[in-house]
Amino acid sequence: MKTSQNIIITGASSGIGFEITKSLASLNHQVFAISRNIKPINDFITSNNISNIKPIPFDLESEDFSSLSSFINETKIHHLINNAGLLINKPFENLSFNDFKRQYEVNVFSVFKLIKFLNLNFINNQSTICNITSMGGINGTSKFPGLLGYSSSKGALSIFTECLAEELKERGVNVNALALGAVQTEMLEKAFPGYKANVSPKEMADYIVNFVLNDSKLFNGKILPISSSTP
Ligand SMILES: NC(=O)c1ccc[n+]([C@@H]2O[C@H](COP(=O)([O-])OP(=O)(O)OC[C@H]3O[C@@H](n4cnc5c(N)ncnc54)[C@H](OP(=O)(O)O)[C@@H]3O)[C@@H](O)[C@H]2O)c1
Repeated sequence: MKTSQNIIITGASSGIGFEITKSLASLNHQVFAISRNIKPINDFITSNNISNIKPIPFDLESEDFSSLSSFINETKIHHLINNAGLLINKPFENLSFNDFKRQYEVNVFSVFKLIKFLNLNFINNQSTICNITSMGGINGTSKFPGLLGYSSSKGALSIFTECLAEELKERGVNVNALALGAVQTEMLEKAFPGYKANVSPKEMADYIVNFVLNDSKLFNGKILPISSSTP
């Protein structure tokens, strides 16, 4: 078994991120679990008597990331999983600039801010960053009305991943993205009401956990599509 790793995950309170958090904790890793609502994480900690998850209540739309210091301090971070996402499903006519901007704030700008904030916590030649993007954020894939802000922000995250991988490669910090297809979560229900995905959050979380722990060092600057359906 691998030694315990320090892993930060955003969007830990629900869907895929909650399953990733539980899975990493069960493998004895130290998990720093970021989301606005930490109740589901606290309930899980209490009911399973777990000590290796640190819930961090934090809004990724915040201007100031310095309050994260008190939770993370100088802890060396082996893996960062940027999983949090915001999807506002509105047709272009009803989509305000604020709706558009908020999706970029969570899906792109917060990823930049968090990586900047953690820069000294990463370990040269060891750490990896995994950005969770979407099939909709890949050039030439099917696009859907109502998802302009979401899909374009995920597209930005994909190119951000390729560019950051170039920037960090001298340090040996690998940066990749997984472009997910449909997974049965609250977000999917917002995007495609009534659609039933053939992948559960637990199944996708298991894939992501295995990728991050075992495979992420084999890739750099790659956007890997993880999808068997459209959407
Ligand atoms: N489900 C799919 O079919 C699908 C497909 C492609 C890609 N993805 C991607 O997979 C990732 C996980 O999605 P999911 O389906 O599991 O969604 P989900 O169940 O809606 O979970 C989204 C998570 O993001 C967090 N979040 C949102 N805004 C935040 C903010 N301002 N600050 C901190 N945390 C915030 C939420 O936590 P709080 O509300 O507690 O803050 C929640 O934990 C996302 O990046 C999504 O874009 C999902």
